[in-house]
Amino acid sequence: MSSFDFSNEPPFPENNVYPPKWDFDNERAWKLYRRAKAEQWDEDKIDWDKVREIASGLDRKERLAIAYWWALLSNFDNATPVFAYALVKSFENHLPTAVRSLVSTITWDENRHNLVCGYAINSVFPEFPNFKPQDELEAKARLNVLWTWYNGSRYWKAYLDSYKKYTIDVLFTSFMMGEAAATTVFTTMGKDTRIQPFKEAFKNTAVDETRHYAFTHLIMTDKAPKMTDEEKKLVTKQIRAGFVFLSLITYRPPKDFWKLPPWFNEVNERMENIARGAGFEIPTIEEKERAWKEAVVRVGASLAHYGIKMPAIPEIGISGEEVFDIKEEDVIPIF
Ligand SMILES: [Fe+2]
Ligand SMILES: [Fe+2]
Repeated sequence: MSSFDFSNEPPFPENNVYPPKWDFDNERAWKLYRRAKAEQWDEDKIDWDKVREIASGLDRKERLAIAYWWALLSNFDNATPVFAYALVKSFENHLPTAVRSLVSTITWDENRHNLVCGYAINSVFPEFPNFKPQDELEAKARLNVLWTWYNGSRYWKAYLDSYKKYTIDVLFTSFMMGEAAATTVFTTMGKDTRIQPFKEAFKNTAVDETRHYAFTHLIMTDKAPKMTDEEKKLVTKQIRAGFVFLSLITYRPPKDFWKLPPWFNEVNERMENIARGAGFEIPTIEEKERAWKEAVVRVGASLAHYGIKMPAIPEIGISGEEVFDIKEEDVIPIF
C-alpha cells in the first residue's frame, strides 16, 4: 500500500474529469452558449394530435412512406450518445468551460431531435419498423431502414475509436460537414412540407442545427491557425467522409462506405414519391443536389480561409483534393 503525502497537492491523473475547473473568458463561446439557452424549444408543443389526424386521412403506403423517411433521418439524429461521449471527452481534456457547456446543450438538442423522429413515426405508423410487410415494396423499404441503421452501427464504432487517434478540436472541426448537412436538410424540409406540425418541427430543428454549425465554426477558427499540415489533411478527408455519410439523407448514398441492399435507391425513390404525394415534400434530387452543393461550398469557403483544402466531390461537380477510398474508420461526422 502506497501512502499519500497529504502535505502536498494530490496527484490528479491525466485525462480525468477531476479536478473541476472553471474559466469565464472565451466570450465568443459564452455568447453562443447564451444563444443556445434562449433558443430552446419543446417537442411536446408540436401538435402531434394534428399529425395523427392528418395521418388518419392517408392510406397505408403514404403513412409508411412518411415513417420511412423519419426512420432514415433518425440514423443521423441518433446523436445523443455522440455528443454525450464528446461531453465526457471535453471534460477529460479540460476544454474551456463555455465549450463544455455548449457540448452539453448540443447533447440535449440532439436528444430532442431524436425524440421528434420517434414522435413522428409514432404518429403516422406506430408499428414501424416492427410491422408485417404486406408486399415486396414494404418488405424492401423496411430492410432499407434496418440496413441504414446497420451502417450507423459501423459509424458508431469508428467514432469511438477516433478519440484515440485524433485531438478533440480536430474531431470537432470534423463535425462541420454534418452540421452543415443538417442545416440544409431541415431548412429545405421546413420550406416545402404541407404537414403544418412537421413544418414547425423542421424550422425549430434548423435553428438548432444552424447554432451547431456555428459551434463547429467557432472551434475551427480557434484551432485552424495552429493546425499542422497533417491535421489539415485530416479535416479535408473528413469533409469528404461527411459528404459520403450524410448523402444518404441529403442526396443519394455514394458507393464508398455504404453497405446497402441492391434495391436501395430504387425503393428509396418510390417511397419518397409516395411521401410527396401525401404532402410530405421531400426535395427532388435536383433540389437536393443544389442545396447539398451550397452546403459543401459554404464549408469549403470557411476552411479555405485557413488553408484547409476542399476534397474533390465529383458527385456534385466539385473539384479539389482527391480523397480515395473512405473507409469505415474514417467516418467521424455527426449531425
Ligand atoms: Fe440534430
Ligand atoms: Fe446537430
